[in-house]
Amino acid sequence: MDKFYVTTPLYYVNDKPHIGHTYTTVLADVLARYYRFMGVKTFFLTGTDEHGQKVAQAAEKKGIDCKDYCDKYAQFFNDMWMRMHIKYDHFIRTTDEHHRKAVTQALQKLWDIGDIYLGSYKGWYCVYEERFWTEKDLIDGKLCPDCNRPTNYIEEKSYFFKMSKYQDWLIEYIEKHPEFIKPDFRRNEVLGFLRKPLGDLCISRPKSRLRWGVELPFDKDFVTYVWVDALLNYCTAVGLWDNMSKFDEWWPADYHLIGKDILTTHAVYWPCILKALGITMPRTIFAHGWWLIGKAKMGKSLGNAIDPAALVNSIGAERLRYYLIRDMVLGQDATYTLDGLISRLNNDLPNDLGNMLSRVTNMVGKYFDGVLPAPNPTTDNEIIKLLTKAEGLSAKIKNLVLDLKTHQVLEEINSVIRAANKFIENTKPWKLAAEGENTRLANVLYHATQLIARVGLLLYPVIPEKSIQLLDSLGFEGEISLDTASEDEIIKPGSKITVTKPLFPRIEIKKIEKELGVETTEKIRTNDDKTEGLIEINDFSKIKLVVGKIVECNIAPKSENLLLLKVDTGEKIRQLVAGIAKWYKPEELVGKSIIVITNLKPVKIRGYVSEGMLLAADDGSIVSILMPDKALRPGCKVR
Ligand code: MSP
Repeated sequence: MDKFYVTTPLYYVNDKPHIGHTYTTVLADVLARYYRFMGVKTFFLTGTDEHGQKVAQAAEKKGIDCKDYCDKYAQFFNDMWMRMHIKYDHFIRTTDEHHRKAVTQALQKLWDIGDIYLGSYKGWYCVYEERFWTEKDLIDGKLCPDCNRPTNYIEEKSYFFKMSKYQDWLIEYIEKHPEFIKPDFRRNEVLGFLRKPLGDLCISRPKSRLRWGVELPFDKDFVTYVWVDALLNYCTAVGLWDNMSKFDEWWPADYHLIGKDILTTHAVYWPCILKALGITMPRTIFAHGWWLIGKAKMGKSLGNAIDPAALVNSIGAERLRYYLIRDMVLGQDATYTLDGLISRLNNDLPNDLGNMLSRVTNMVGKYFDGVLPAPNPTTDNEIIKLLTKAEGLSAKIKNLVLDLKTHQVLEEINSVIRAANKFIENTKPWKLAAEGENTRLANVLYHATQLIARVGLLLYPVIPEKSIQLLDSLGFEGEISLDTASEDEIIKPGSKITVTKPLFPRIEIKKIEKELGVETTEKIRTNDDKTEGLIEINDFSKIKLVVGKIVECNIAPKSENLLLLKVDTGEKIRQLVAGIAKWYKPEELVGKSIIVITNLKPVKIRGYVSEGMLLAADDGSIVSILMPDKALRPGCKVR
């Protein structure tokens, strides 16, 4: 492979980044770093998707000009990536002039070859997904099948891209190129979708409805559909029609990393657009799974998004990078829990890696004045066992990276670290020192040092700063690369070994809970599968449920997601704090009857005391408060 070009989706700037976005970006960064580590020339692209109705509405809601709004939110993404130690080669914004210009050119070309025609559109539009649906797609005749939000019926003059013309070609292409859509089950999903006739793609929005976008070069009354604009970024970022030698150097992309939510746009719309423009297909579109909270997708709109900024403040970027890569099997969904995160990080990092480094550096310090001893030829069983375990580790990691088995990379490395800790326990260097067995002692510490250096190098793409701290403490002076990691002797005898501050001190659950706020931890706990079990009727009767009437309701000044409700529960007026501001406006709720748990211990949520909890149902995308269907006075018992 002579080059590697990897992309993330361009994130909508309708809100700040959450863990889901952070995951795709960390994954791309880790892959880019592994490829650079393998000596492959690499280009890593990320950025923001800034046009379209969703962003325009978000700006309008805040009362800011669209471009100013995008500048501010694009910066949130950029800042987050800096904090996560993301080393991208280019951050594209769809409002960049060069990109807008190339999008205009692409539209003109499609028009010139007769692949765009004027028609009229009748259908239902979901602003959140920025997608049209036909009536038969809708749930209950009105809701978006992807996100369950209400759609708007639209009937208007529109331009269409002749996507249907490419259907047979696309099926054949996907069938002939098994690596084009990955994992295989996603490829089958796309082929299944393509069994139905493929419609043409509506690619315009009238300016009377939406001005925020790239104008159609052949009709000034329209802007183009945000997805046509956004997908083209993968080509415009590397110079399409602007710097063709750069374009030829990088295109086709090797991986478009995406979440499974945007498979159709990438695996159907995008190849058809490229084919029409006469541009080569990307090598692989890889759809990963979702981070879930309980059973629901983590997402901004669902109000359950974990804020990566808060996590980074609390545990640091390198731990978060490690967790995201280690705990998601690429392609499948993964469930986020704070407890899971803490136990993973405490087991793998301080217990295994940190412990190994501190043992080796301390013992070389104590027994050899901090200077790495030279080895002697040996037939020592323990050493041979360790060398066998470590043998070929670099090649194994390379293959796992090439196969996109990123979680296994960390699994593999960790199993070698555990073997190394076992090696120290079995060989007992402290005993060898006490018994004056200096030759064996030198051998044990020499080989343990080489192994920890190898592991430190191989972990560099995942935890770059900690890896450098580790290598520095071993006096490493070489080049950080796979070739170096494959050498038998990475640290030369005579190198100065120093004991540094612990690489990853243990994290304390209480401290993190406090730093992240009660709300987060409680939410995670309630969603945890472990709480799903059968209970006795007595257990149920311990919960005091009553009818309450909302007498006052306001958005919490310190958190726009929270509503502060004053609820009459018969015996008194209580304050309830609920994270439902995304689904209910305060004025909609005043006067309504709800169901309240009244015997919960009061808790503070973002600084506000909540004296109970209201009942609401959540299907993963919509939250609905339970309300009695007949008038009942406040305080009536629910049994
Ligand atoms: N703007 C479009 C993409 C255009 S690409 C030409 C878009 N943006 S988005 O802001 O909604 O980001 C979607 C991407 O964020 C997903 O495809 C995925 O990569 C990531 N994630 C968002 N939520 C996620 C999870 N809960 N879990 C994992 N990743 C998810 O769609």
